[in-house]
This record gives sequence, structure tokens and C-alpha cells, in this order.
Amino acid sequence: MERDVTKMMYMELRQEWKRICDEARPRMAPKCKACAECDSARPKCNFVSSDRGRSGIRNYEKLQQIKLACDTIYEGGNGDEIDSSCDFFGEKMRAPVFNAPIAWVGNNLPNTHFVKPGVERVDGKATNSDDYAYSKALIDGCADVGSIGWVADSKHHPLVHFYEDGLRAIKERNGRGVPTIKSWDDEKLSNKIKQAEEAGAVAIACDIDCVGLGYMSINGKYDTLPGLSNPKSAKQLREIFSITSKPYILKGIMTPQGAVKACEAGAAGIVVSNHAGNNLDQSLATIEVLESIKRAVGNDIKVYIDGGFRHGEDVFKALAMGADGVLIGRPVMIAAEGGEAYGVSIYMQKIIWELQNAMRMTGCLSLKDITRDKIYITKEF
Ligand SMILES: Cc1cc2nc3c(=O)[nH]c(=O)nc-3n(C[C@H](O)[C@H](O)[C@H](O)COP(=O)(O)O)c2cc1C
Repeated sequence: MERDVTKMMYMELRQEWKRICDEARPRMAPKCKACAECDSARPKCNFVSSDRGRSGIRNYEKLQQIKLACDTIYEGGNGDEIDSSCDFFGEKMRAPVFNAPIAWVGNNLPNTHFVKPGVERVDGKATNSDDYAYSKALIDGCADVGSIGWVADSKHHPLVHFYEDGLRAIKERNGRGVPTIKSWDDEKLSNKIKQAEEAGAVAIACDIDCVGLGYMSINGKYDTLPGLSNPKSAKQLREIFSITSKPYILKGIMTPQGAVKACEAGAAGIVVSNHAGNNLDQSLATIEVLESIKRAVGNDIKVYIDGGFRHGEDVFKALAMGADGVLIGRPVMIAAEGGEAYGVSIYMQKIIWELQNAMRMTGCLSLKDITRDKIYITKEF
């Protein structure tokens, strides 16, 4: 019988995570070294460093400059009295932590084990990648520990259908997942919204910052995505998304003005994100802009964030600064490669455990207790 990951002790979760990284490492190469602590900055880290990944490194570094305020003199706080649960557009979650969408496993990991039998590699790329199996690992692995998985969309190749593959995985999990559509031209975007609706997805996201992906350093060259649109106005976005009754989330917001425009566009949520530093070099870290964005929109819209979050304590920091939840990208890709759905569950449960422990050590019995005075921002920030 499969073990219930949510009942595992922390030491065991850590040991399993190390084993999963070891398993994934040879298959992540040459783009990723599957470091247990992914900081974007190790030499030859091909995902975001090189000469154009400084925003990705900054995401991680700025989070290290925030510290937690330990206080264990309070009433309550037995293990099961710590409640990190929350609501995500009507779906209950054990903690406000998601995976971040990363598409086309064969493109990002040329040596992935997610391959379709009998299909050859084309142009040196793993066009034979099995993006359905990869998406299923993300969606099921998250759902199994009470989280919600996000899947992505990317440039078109006649042999891969990762958007549809992701939707299939979501549909099979009764809609418990968020498809993230690229900002295509209006007609294509509308069609993809309809597909997401048909799959019963709990919410629909759009990574509007993908218009900058020409600078994706993972490819080491300028590589535009054919069919992608120019930036869209708030009015355009409102019209396009008016065809769905699903809540929709704009991913890639980095300014208070952008967040206000997302509200005008009718979005139910935003993700403060710089795409792991891939789309615009020399942008601020996401955690640096979080508070000003939250001040600008208040409670009008849900505010999620990603970029460099690696532990439950990091999630705690963002919650104390006003975020409603955190997405984690590259480590969850490593988790899927090294352990499929089980690997994703282990990683997500480790984060949830760390968040709950941070709450216990700071006197927070529920998420609403995680207030600004529970963290210190150090002088260097
Ligand atoms: C290799 C790679 C591919 C990505 N692909 C997508 C994508 O297809 N859609 C999307 O919305 N974001 C994409 N992202 C951005 C992630 O969703 C997320 O914003 C970022 O990875 C979070 O930072 P982290 O990896 O430091 O946790 C990608 C990031 C990486 C590193």
C-alpha cells in the first residue's frame, strides 16, 4: 500500500527529498544540477544564471535577508492546533503553497525520463517527451498533499501538445488544477480559455509577462515564440476573459500600477513574478515589490508570488508581507523528474511541514496570525 506522505516525519521527508534529487540529477543535466537548494547562482546553473539571470539570483538572495521572529510563550500550539489551511476559489488547501507552471519537459530537460516509447528525438530536442505523464505528476502530486498544481503552455511544436496534456491531467483530477495560458493573439487565447473551462479547471491563469521571453537565458540565444502577442491592455484582457465565468489570474505582475490594471482587467488574482528572472534582466526581486503591490490593491484581488522560494520559512515571509500564497518552480520540476507524483508530494509536504513549524515557533495558530511583526527585514534588504 502507498504511504501517506502527510504523516511522514520531517527527517524522513528530508531524506526522501535528497534521494529524489540524486535520482533526478543525471537526467536534469546539462541544464540543471538538481541542487537540493536551488539558488540560481551555482556556477554553470543553466536555468537562469549565465550573463542574463541576475533577477533570478536576486529573488533568492533577497529572501535570505528576511528573518523570522521566534516567540514560543503563548497558549495552544499543540501540533494539530496549527492550521495552515486556506481557500483557493472554493477549493480547500492544506497550506497556501502551489507549484509554479513550467512547460514542455522535453525542451527544458533534454534527458528527461518522461518520454513516449517509440518516438524519436527531433532536432536534438526531446519532442518525444511525455508531457501528459509530467503534468499528471504535478497535478496528482500536489493534490495528494492538499495543494493545487499549475500546468503551463509554451511554443508550438507539431509533436507536442503540453497544454492539452496538462488539461487532461486536471480533468482527471476533477478540475483541481490551474492551466496557465501564454498571452497569444486574441483568438488563440480565447480558444484556450474555452478548453480550460471544458476541463473544469478551478481557475485559469495567463503569464502575460511571456511577451519578454525572447531573452530566455536557458536557450542562451534570442528565441521569440511565434504567435505570441504584444502586450495587451486592461480593456482587451477584460473582453477576452469575459467569455469565462472562471476566476482568472494574471501572472507576471511586478509593479503597483500593473496590479491596479490587473484589477481593472477583472482578474481575480495576480502572481507577482519575474518568470524566475528569465524575461527581463535587472528587474527587482519579487519579494522587494510585494508590499507596495499589496498596498495598491488591498483585498480587491488575491496576491500570489513566486521566485526563489525554497522553504516553508520563505513562504511564511511572503505571507507576513501580505501575500495570499506562494508558487515554487524549479525544485518541483526536479521532484517530478526524480520521483513523479510521489516526488512532488514529498517536496510539497516538506514545505507545508516547514511552514507549520514556522507558525508554531512564532505563535501563529492560523494564517491570519502571520502578521508583519512576525518577521524582521535586515538592514541589507
Ligand atoms: C525553465 C523554466 C520554464 C518556465 N516555463 C514557464 C511557463 O511555461 N509558463 C509560466 O507561466 N512560467 C514559466 N516559468 C516561470 C515559473 O512559472 C515561475 O515563475 C518561476 O520558475 C518561479 O521561480 P523559481 O523557479 O525560482 O521558484 C518557467 C521557469 C523556468 C525556470
